[in-house]
Amino acid sequence: MISIEKNQEIKTAISAIMQSMFDQRNYLADILEYLEKPLTPGMEKKVETILKKYGMPGESLALDERVLTENPYFKNIRLDKIETPTVKYSKDIIPKRTLMNTDFNRQLGKYLFHYHPVGYFNIDLEMPSLKEGNITWMSPAPSEIISMGDGVEKGTGKCLTMGLGIGLLPYLWLLKDEVESVTVIEHNKDVIDLFNKVILPQFNTSKSLEIIHGDAFEYFTDEFLNRFDYAYIDFWESNEDGLVDYIRLMEKKVTLPHIDFWIEESILSLAKQIVALYLITLYQGRSITEFIASLDEDNRRLARKANKFFKKRTEVISTEEELLYLIHDRKLLRELLSVPVSM
Ligand SMILES: C[S@@+](CC[C@H](N)C(=O)[O-])C[C@H]1O[C@@H](n2cnc3c(N)ncnc32)[C@H](O)[C@@H]1O
Repeated sequence: MISIEKNQEIKTAISAIMQSMFDQRNYLADILEYLEKPLTPGMEKKVETILKKYGMPGESLALDERVLTENPYFKNIRLDKIETPTVKYSKDIIPKRTLMNTDFNRQLGKYLFHYHPVGYFNIDLEMPSLKEGNITWMSPAPSEIISMGDGVEKGTGKCLTMGLGIGLLPYLWLLKDEVESVTVIEHNKDVIDLFNKVILPQFNTSKSLEIIHGDAFEYFTDEFLNRFDYAYIDFWESNEDGLVDYIRLMEKKVTLPHIDFWIEESILSLAKQIVALYLITLYQGRSITEFIASLDEDNRRLARKANKFFKKRTEVISTEEELLYLIHDRKLLRELLSVPVSM
């Protein structure tokens, strides 16, 4: 079993990790009151004070409209209101000065404080989206465009994505000279039919776009993924359902270098909290069994994976750097999440 030395450096690091988790919880509670509401000048001042209090980057909350207006998808593709038995395209007006998340969780500092960047536009925005019941699968909103930026940039040769949505990523890939073809796996036939009817005719491309009706988990194999030069997996709505799907994918133990996962940093921020709490419990010499039992079902599964993973390791952790490596290293976390545990 891994062990954590009781020295001053580790003691200080553990208090800093715990403080960063409290700060994150307090930040979320503070900012929630203002999100998705048009800001009055007074509210804007309060939001700025909150951002300053937690050491957030960025000077102004007012966003540059060009993030949207110069995005080729937002500019060129129209989604008319239309419904199928399971999904629909709809259009919402986002009033000017509405405070919104502009990206998913990002780490700030070296511990466990993660935050959503926020901002507003000075114009009313007509925002189309793909909805299935209460789930908004996709819209060309700043948070989607910004969080997908890396995946767009890395697309080259034969590209694969899992999750069609409104075809934002396929469209941006097809515009790139380096991209030869795009393949998409989508499990909802209505999403595919709607896309073929409304969106595809607006794609002005001679390159191959193949949409396969199927389940992402079935296609997530070495053999299939190796047919492509780059793959971007994006079939979840946010980090919470994303973590559940991401763990299922990790359990398949595919470790290819050319695959990325949408909002992976944000998804892992949830797993890191449990890994950190597990290591703190170990350091404090408290009962791991009681710690695991105190968690809800999803987190219990995560903690059991951490327990099985760290039980097999034998190193002694004696510095902050070594401790933070166990919490933050992406390769290590992917391996930890791939550990099988019974339900
Ligand atoms: C967030 S959207 C994808 C957005 C897309 N990247 C885009 O650029 O528009 C997620 C999509 O994944 C699909 N989906 C959900 N679970 C799936 C699964 N198990 N297999 C395949 N597709 C799935 C949903 O129907 C939805 O169309």
